[in-house]
Amino acid sequence: MFDLQSEILKFDDSQDITNAWTPPSSWYTQNEFLNLEHEKVFLKNWMFVDFTYNLSNEGDYSTGKVANRPYVLLKNKDHIKAYYNICSHHGTCVAKGKGNTESLVCPYHGWVYNLEGKLKKIPKAGSITDIHKKGMNLKEIPMHISGPFVFLWIGDGDTADFSESLEEHFSRDLYQNLNFVKRTEYIINCNWKVFVDNYLDGGYHVPHMHPGLTTQLDLDSYYTDIHDNWSLQKCLAKTSEAKDKEVKGRVSGEAEYTWAYPNFMINRYGKWMDTNWAIPMGPNKSKIVFDYFYDGNPKDVEMSLDASDKVQAEDMEICDMVQDGLNSGVYKQGVYAPQFEKPMFHFHQLLKESFLTN
Ligand code: FES
Ligand SMILES: [Fe+2]
Repeated sequence: MFDLQSEILKFDDSQDITNAWTPPSSWYTQNEFLNLEHEKVFLKNWMFVDFTYNLSNEGDYSTGKVANRPYVLLKNKDHIKAYYNICSHHGTCVAKGKGNTESLVCPYHGWVYNLEGKLKKIPKAGSITDIHKKGMNLKEIPMHISGPFVFLWIGDGDTADFSESLEEHFSRDLYQNLNFVKRTEYIINCNWKVFVDNYLDGGYHVPHMHPGLTTQLDLDSYYTDIHDNWSLQKCLAKTSEAKDKEVKGRVSGEAEYTWAYPNFMINRYGKWMDTNWAIPMGPNKSKIVFDYFYDGNPKDVEMSLDASDKVQAEDMEICDMVQDGLNSGVYKQGVYAPQFEKPMFHFHQLLKESFLTN
């Protein structure tokens, strides 16, 4: 019989990275782990959900779900606020997609909420008693904005402090005033953590998987830095090649790859920022959302995007292939490449800590 607790403990991180085995394949294949992640990870952390760029004008809104909980972000006159996107009448999602509006009107029976989430109008419903009318506003969700990124604490209970060092990292000029270029979304047949693991292998896969990118990076300069609940990987561009590829390629100067626990990744290089957001859709299925931003006049945008798209496609293909091995029942646990994979080990340690916390 499947024993969740013993599967968690198979990842023994009292060992250092040179002796440790990776988490077992069950972490990546079993529904029990996905449920556990919803409860212990996604509902108990600051979760990235959007960019402030999408919510700059009064009435802008966007919607989504974290761990099956629907939220709506709303820009009122002064602030961005977050609410559960759940009508007080029968629980319908009030808002859909994103856009700009003067109020939110529930599509089911037309109850109207204003931009502060207050219930303003109930179309003729007969007499609803005062006691029933109490607490009928949309329920607010704790939100934290760091740099251009919007995070929600969508679970019940007390919020944790947002990491001070991550706050400092995102507050730098490097992350401000970027122009949105495009969003692409892909569905891939792997667990969301396979995608994150690939991101956190300290550049180990880069020469094998990304020949184009490798010509632009000085992989000897690769450097990783582990923080409380985030990590940073950095790499310098190869100077001679980088000069002529400055416009058409992906990298110029220094590339910075930031990962914020659990599922948000930010690539900042030259004039570009792209972000990867890994959303679980099942134990073997994920949605990866790529958003592209540009600093300044986006000339030659298409050529650079082609280079980025190629790297993303290479990563997604290998993730599918990893999942096949994980699903096989033959592969049990792997090992780490200690020189590179410290950020990945750190991710697995954070997961285990979340799983074991009440
Ligand atoms: S469920 Fe929203 S108005 Fe009825
Ligand atoms: Fe990659």
